[in-house]
Formats: sequence, C-alpha cells, structure tokens
Amino acid sequence: MLTDEFGREVTGVRVSLTDRCNFDCIYCHNEGLGDTRGPMDPQDDEMETDDVVRFLEVAAEFDVDAVKFTGGEPMLRQDLEEIVDRTPDQMEVSLTTNGTFLPGRAEALVDAGLDRVNVSQDALDPEDFAAVTKSGAYEKVLEGVDAALEAGLDPVKLNMVVFEHTAGYVPEMVDHVAENEGLQLQLIEYMPELTGKPEWNIEIERVHDWLAERALEIEHREMHDRRRYWVAADGSDARSRDEPGVGMVEIVDPVENPTFCANCHRVRVTHEGYLKGCLNRNDDLRPMGEMTKSEIREAFRETVANRVPYYGEYMIKNADGEWELNEKYLDAPA
Ligand code: 5AD
Ligand code: SF4
Repeated sequence: MLTDEFGREVTGVRVSLTDRCNFDCIYCHNEGLGDTRGPMDPQDDEMETDDVVRFLEVAAEFDVDAVKFTGGEPMLRQDLEEIVDRTPDQMEVSLTTNGTFLPGRAEALVDAGLDRVNVSQDALDPEDFAAVTKSGAYEKVLEGVDAALEAGLDPVKLNMVVFEHTAGYVPEMVDHVAENEGLQLQLIEYMPELTGKPEWNIEIERVHDWLAERALEIEHREMHDRRRYWVAADGSDARSRDEPGVGMVEIVDPVENPTFCANCHRVRVTHEGYLKGCLNRNDDLRPMGEMTKSEIREAFRETVANRVPYYGEYMIKNADGEWELNEKYLDAPA
C-alpha cells in the first residue's frame, strides 16, 4: 500500500476511458464532444485496452482495491466489458455514466464483474433535463437506470450536480429516490473551476440544512467526511430508514468541506494515459500508457509521492484522531 506525504493511503484509482460524450452538460469541463455515434474501439488519443489492463494490474500490486471508470462517457468504448472482465479480481469495479447505453449492456457489464454504477441524472422532466444536458435522451436514461436495477446493481446511485439551474429540482429528486426502491441520490457540489462560471454556484450548506431538517436519520461517514440523510417522501408517514418510502441522500462537497481532500484515497488516470494525483491538478501528469510494468510502477510511486490536496485548509488527523491544520501546507501553492 502506498501512502502520500499527507498520510493518505492510495486505495483506489479513477480511470477516464475517453473524453468523448454524447451529452453536452453545461456544468461539464468537456470541450468538444468527439465522435459519439455509438460505442466504438479506442480512438487515437485513448488508451488501448491492454494499456488500461496493464495499469490496473500494477495498481493491484500496490493493494489498490477499487476502480471507477469514468469519461467523458465511458460506455462509448466498446471494450468496456472486456476491460471490466480483465480487471484484477481484488478490485471493486464501479462506473460513472450518463446511462444512455445501459439498456442492452447492463447485464453484460454485471456478468463481466461490474459492482456499482452511478448514473448522472440532474432533473426529472425531459425539458429540464435537456436544458442541463443539451440532450433529448431523457427516456433512454430512465431505461438505463431500470436496466441497471434489473441486472442486479443495487443500489443504483443517481448523481445530481447542484447549481443554479438544478437546485430547485432537489426536493423532487429526493422524493423520486424515496419512492423508488433501489435508487439512492448523490448530490454533488458544483465545481466552478471546471466551467469558469462562479456565478452558478449555490451554497451547498443550504442543501445540508434542508436535508437535516427533513431527515429521519443522519449518518456521518469517515470517507470524505460525508453525511448521509434518510428522507421520507413528501406525504409518506414512514418513521425509520428501513421502511418503504424512505430514500438515502448523500452530499459530495469537495469545495466547502474542509476535510474532503484530506480523505481522498484515489489517484486518477486521464483517457490519454497520464497518471495524476488529483482531479483538479494538471501540474503532475506522468505518462503511463504504452509503457512497461516497471515504468508504470515508477510513475505510480512518483505520483503518490507528489500528491497534494487541492480544496480545503488541508486538514489532517493527529495521533488522537482529531482533525488539525497541517503546518506543512501553509506555504504550499493552492
Ligand atoms: N461540478 C461538479 N461535478 C461535476 N461533474 C462534471 N462537471 C462537474 C462540475 N462542474 C461530475 C458530476 C457528473 C459527472 C459525470 O461528473 O458528478 O454526474
Ligand atoms: Fe460531461 Fe458527464 Fe455530462 Fe458527458 S454526461 S457532458 S462527461 S458531465
């Protein structure tokens, strides 16, 4: 197991398989959609199937036990099933997708070893949905969520980025997951650096407050300092989290939560085959596509050695398990 200078063990990897996407979400950093006619073989700028697998095998040597495949839209790669199938057994495999290609492929992915899925769904109405995603595929996404549930992925997590355009949809999305067995909601704090539009930001603390008021139960998770809320659907008389009509809602708030980055245990790989220590940093890119395993090992070690938290006041835990400011960060570039 590799640990960085800030005491963060690296237990997961997040691998982007393509930056192509058949959606054009207004909050997304994607520039240009690329060739999105349908699932296809790796494109020139994308890691080959073998590159991805070789990397995962090295990560497994370092005791990494979880991989998340992302994009762009990772299901635009035809070889996703093969990649999942060839992922080392010790890894839990999850996927972040817009859901449009899940009908017809969810089952094969589960057979190949997919354990978990997050489907981006920012609205519950085709027009609102189109306004955010610039896509008319709303019904396809709903079909995709159903296909994932039918294939045995339980829960299916719906990802919703909370910002100016979607904040008003939070109550109906909460009711939606409360009323539909198998769904959970992940509310994601908007990251303005990905879009350059700080004016779309809303205070995520307001969403925490709203949920805390409605919740039947609140649980605090160590990982990323996340809070989970169990909320009953509007009009339901459920009183505990195990009853029907109650949904689980989680907030992922990297920007406002001071301990979020201190709890980050994942390194990332770009679709072009560069390792990096942080989603928001491009100053530590290390090539690892088309390389030998020993070169990949070296790149992995160096990436971990250079990892620096991005958001927050760089909190760390002291020997008593309490959070405190790490002196070392005070002079580090933000
Ligand atoms: N802020 C927060 N999350 C974002 N995502 C993409 N862009 C942003 C942003 N600006 C995340 C969302 C989405 C996934 C594909 O990427 O979680 O569901
Ligand atoms: Fe970006 Fe994901 Fe939306 Fe595609 S679905 S545009 S990758 S946020």
